[in-house]
Amino acid sequence: MQPFASLNASKANFDDIYLQDDPRGYFSVLGALDYIIPDVAAPIIRQILAARKCRYDTAATVLDIGCSYGINAAVLRYPLSFRRLRRRYANADMAALSADDLARLDRHYYAGWPETGIARFIGLDVSAPAVRYAVSVGLLEAGIVANLESCAPAPRDIERIRRADLILSTGCVGYVTERTFRAVLGAMDRAPWVVSFVLRMFPYDAIAEECAKHGLVTERLAGATFVQRRFRDIEEFTRCLGTLEKLGIETAGLESEGRFQAELFVSRPLEDVQAAPLGQIVKVVSGRNRTVGTRYVRVGRGERTQVLRAPS
Ligand SMILES: C[S@@+](CC[C@H](N)C(=O)[O-])C[C@H]1O[C@@H](n2cnc3c(N)ncnc32)[C@H](O)[C@@H]1O
Repeated sequence: MQPFASLNASKANFDDIYLQDDPRGYFSVLGALDYIIPDVAAPIIRQILAARKCRYDTAATVLDIGCSYGINAAVLRYPLSFRRLRRRYANADMAALSADDLARLDRHYYAGWPETGIARFIGLDVSAPAVRYAVSVGLLEAGIVANLESCAPAPRDIERIRRADLILSTGCVGYVTERTFRAVLGAMDRAPWVVSFVLRMFPYDAIAEECAKHGLVTERLAGATFVQRRFRDIEEFTRCLGTLEKLGIETAGLESEGRFQAELFVSRPLEDVQAAPLGQIVKVVSGRNRTVGTRYVRVGRGERTQVLRAPS
């Protein structure tokens, strides 16, 4: 099998934007390429978190691998989206702020939204500034700065990883391999659920094997792919299509139309899979974000249920 590093070389390199003190560069560069995986993954992750809560009766603590500036935590903990956050950071007055001032405002910004209560978040990323920002604005309860591809987790990091019961990753497999998953799974006391959105160019077999060593069965959601972003330019497009074709992956109607496509893999203990296979707990709704007029929505539960008009 081709190593991930050589597959990753087909993709454009964005290392600089992961290493800044705040997420403005991240939203500006990836936003301009319609990076949308956190938004398309969020409704699916919510369903998985709800299914896990139903089974275990507690809200999960999520370990977000490759958490970057805590964007998954933002869109899952609050009624926010990548697109909305991108607009916030694109504002000219925001561009003039220092990173410290921006973090101070962001702390208030996030605290000003009602929490979904769906999960608690800790994050792991190789970028110290990104993790520092995500913790300082309150998106992550704790952050781990480490490259588990090349180093074992420090004792302090193991203590943090141990608290998690669901491992999440979006846009990160490829940068990380089975080595990171081996280290994380090895640090955990109990079998977690593992939820990964993975570009089709990165084979998931070796990560699924690591999961199997911990008693987890991996399912791939059949019949659905998730757009990650547009290809940056013709060079990235032709390189990636070539890589996919060499792997024997049919790109027609998917990447051939100019967008990276990810698949969903979920690993769980056998008894959880038997109780409710993945296809039963996840419904993919197409067109969710394509309607623009007023909608009627039902919010709350039981006696507190209300019908509201959601503004466009
Ligand atoms: C495309 S970003 C995805 C960020 C976030 N998950 C999202 O979807 O918005 C990839 C992230 O992986 C991180 N990364 C790269 N190599 C890593 C490694 N060895 N261990 C942990 N994180 C890594 C980068 O710093 C970056 O934050």
